[in-house]
Amino acid sequence: MANKILVTGGAGYIGSHTVLQLLLGGYQVVVVDNLDNSSDVSIKRVQEIAGNNGSNLVFHKMDLRDKPALEKIFDSTKFDAVIHFAGLKAVGESVKKPLLYFNNNLIGTIYLLEVMASHGCKKLVFSSSATVYGWPKEVPCTEEFPLSAANPYGRTKLFLEEICRDLYNSDSGWKIMLLRYFNPVGAHPSGKIGEDPRGIPNNLMPFVQQVAVGRQPALTIYGTDYVTKDGTGVRDYIHVVDLADGHIAALNKLSDPSVGCEVYNLGTGEGTSVLNMVAAFEKASGKKIPLVFAGRRGGDAEIVYASTAKAEKELKWKAKYGIEEMCKDQWNWASKNPYGYESPENGHH
Ligand code: NAD
Ligand code: UFG
Repeated sequence: MANKILVTGGAGYIGSHTVLQLLLGGYQVVVVDNLDNSSDVSIKRVQEIAGNNGSNLVFHKMDLRDKPALEKIFDSTKFDAVIHFAGLKAVGESVKKPLLYFNNNLIGTIYLLEVMASHGCKKLVFSSSATVYGWPKEVPCTEEFPLSAANPYGRTKLFLEEICRDLYNSDSGWKIMLLRYFNPVGAHPSGKIGEDPRGIPNNLMPFVQQVAVGRQPALTIYGTDYVTKDGTGVRDYIHVVDLADGHIAALNKLSDPSVGCEVYNLGTGEGTSVLNMVAAFEKASGKKIPLVFAGRRGGDAEIVYASTAKAEKELKWKAKYGIEEMCKDQWNWASKNPYGYESPENGHH
């Protein structure tokens, strides 16, 4: 029988791409998502792309903090593992509304862990973030670096990592993969699914994409005085399909008897500046991105990129795509869905 996986937040950006890779890999998938930051159109698109395997996906519109509803799902289905993406992720919003972030991210996860424990499902893959490295003293970041949090969002990731470590220390029956994502960008090459943030995008590539389709007049570059080759911040951008495949590798690793509570970076190991990324996008799209140069954004680090050695060695996973493919696929998605899942072409306006 095929492995059954519960995916929380599976309608979202990284979740939808991961659900697709799971379906293509022959898994049975149940998604729970409250659609707070996503659209169920993504679920339908994933089913379309997955073809015959699309029918192996079941969706429940549900908030993780609705514990009785979560219990019901676990009562009716025996899951082999859970991939937990559901959470709020906007750094600026988390500074303004810390309780919202603590309530959603911490309580949602604690309920999930409680329900998993009471149903004997103790295999978890969790979305952590490179944000736990703060402003790293050196690069590349290895998994052993000291951890810190610069904002409430980052603090939820740090707390949740610690909660998982404590849980494992209390009961070695748990098997947990804490995956620290670097900067996911791009979209599925079909152009049918991609990132569709609500409101004005906080992150670089969703903003660039909106400039390219005429929804924003110009990109503001936050900081030109960093100690980098062109003065702009350097990040490790990773194609979302590579990231999704990293989750399949992590799931496979969960069946290794030696696994306890483990942490892995998911990045490419390559650092790219903001200006380099914009240039790559302009080349891929043929669109000129007007720029406004501004001061640094509070809380931003200078240079962040991953050491990929541990994931390569232990997960046997390595990112395949470079920034050209990331930008090409980002533009393919943007040009086909300029207003995301609500584009007029999709009959939603
Ligand atoms: P996303 O917002 O597109 O997806 C998250 C999904 O979770 C959304 O569909 C949202 O509706 C759902 N959700 C939120 N709270 C929920 C709740 N209480 N109950 C049910 N569903 C809920 O974000 P994403 O970019 O796909 O990120 C997925 C995960 O990866 C998040 O935990 C995020 O913090 C983490 N992460 C993202 C990035 C990034 O840059 N995108 C980087 C590092 C880590
Ligand atoms: N940037 C701009 N203009 C913008 C947006 C971003 O110049 O409009 C710059 C930033 O200053 C930074 C780079 O582009 O140098 C990348 O910024 P993002 O906001 O896209 O990504 P961050 O690295 O700041 O943070 C992201 C997520 C965090 C996550 C972190 C690590 O927002 O939640 O990656 O995974 F923790």
